[in-house]
Amino acid sequence: MPHAEAVPEGSKITICEVGPRDGFQNEKVFIPTARKIEVVNALFAAGLRHIQVTSFVSPRAVPQLADAKEVLAGIDRPEGAWVSALVPNLRGAERAAEAGVDAVHTVVSASETHNRKNVNRPVDQSLSEFEAVFETLHKAGVVIEGGIATAFGCPFEGDVPAQQVARIARRYQDLGAGSVALGDTTGMATPLTVRAAIHAIRDAAPGLDIHLHFHNTRGVGLACVMTGLAEGVTHYDASVGGLGGCPFAAGATGNICTEDLVYLLQESGFETGVDLDRMIAAASLTQEIVGRPLPGQVLKAGPRLKRHDPEMTVTAAG
Ligand code: COA
Ligand code: ZN
Repeated sequence: MPHAEAVPEGSKITICEVGPRDGFQNEKVFIPTARKIEVVNALFAAGLRHIQVTSFVSPRAVPQLADAKEVLAGIDRPEGAWVSALVPNLRGAERAAEAGVDAVHTVVSASETHNRKNVNRPVDQSLSEFEAVFETLHKAGVVIEGGIATAFGCPFEGDVPAQQVARIARRYQDLGAGSVALGDTTGMATPLTVRAAIHAIRDAAPGLDIHLHFHNTRGVGLACVMTGLAEGVTHYDASVGGLGGCPFAAGATGNICTEDLVYLLQESGFETGVDLDRMIAAASLTQEIVGRPLPGQVLKAGPRLKRHDPEMTVTAAG
């Protein structure tokens, strides 16, 4: 079966910023609501238009995001903004719809063990419960992105077969999702597994839009983006400064970093709509708020043509 062409140079790539959700969920010290709002507004100011702002999950499971409703109510949404939240169950869907999100990212894992750790139920139970979730969200006019966690491997079970990912994607399509987001929860994706998952989904669920969500745990997150681009995928999640990690997955670390992704895409001839300097400013703000250095590379080095004063650098005189 033929597969999509590579994304042509000059195309618009959608970046969904997930730092306020995937990043903040992992922070041990509670970040005041006003500071979360400040970060989201800085991300909008950088030109991002898709932001996963928070999660509507149990506040006992993720205390950091207990202020989901207040954060959503406090942000300034610019024209064309697309605000989403993560939802695991019907209660979350009801709360998200009430809070006025544009989109919801539902979550189920491709591996049984991670699904039990993350949402305390078997995969098939999550999927059956999604029927009521989808009905509620469709009635409220909320767009649904079907999230599949541990799509490229599970920290408890190892490799996850592409067919299992494709089966869940097909189920999502049957429920009425327009897109699926393949989550690389603990950075186990490689160019080969990314390609295999994309092909399996295109065969099982033709027409379903594929979004990619990589973590940079093993340093190949941006290489996996290049594979996605070669396979025609135009939508990527990333987090400001490379913040991130799942509290319910051993060894989870940050997402691919938004500034680094913007830099790579711009320097590869793609449109992102993001201003790199403002994106670096948003990352500096986030770094100051979490109080430790973030892994982003462009945050440290600056844009490629940043000029340094020769007077400030030693000369290697023999
Ligand atoms: N929002 C707020 N509260 C919720 C909720 C939601 N979406 N879903 C359940 N709750 C509350 C229930 O009201 C109940 O509260 P009570 O004990 O005060 O009556 C309590 O949580 C337990 O509900 P239950 O349905 O038995 O859930 P559970 O204990 O089996 O946990 C989840 C299931 C899905 C709620 C929980 O595992 C969870 O929130 N997981 C999210 C994990 C996550 O965000 N991971 C990172 C992203 S990948
Ligand atoms: Zn993630």
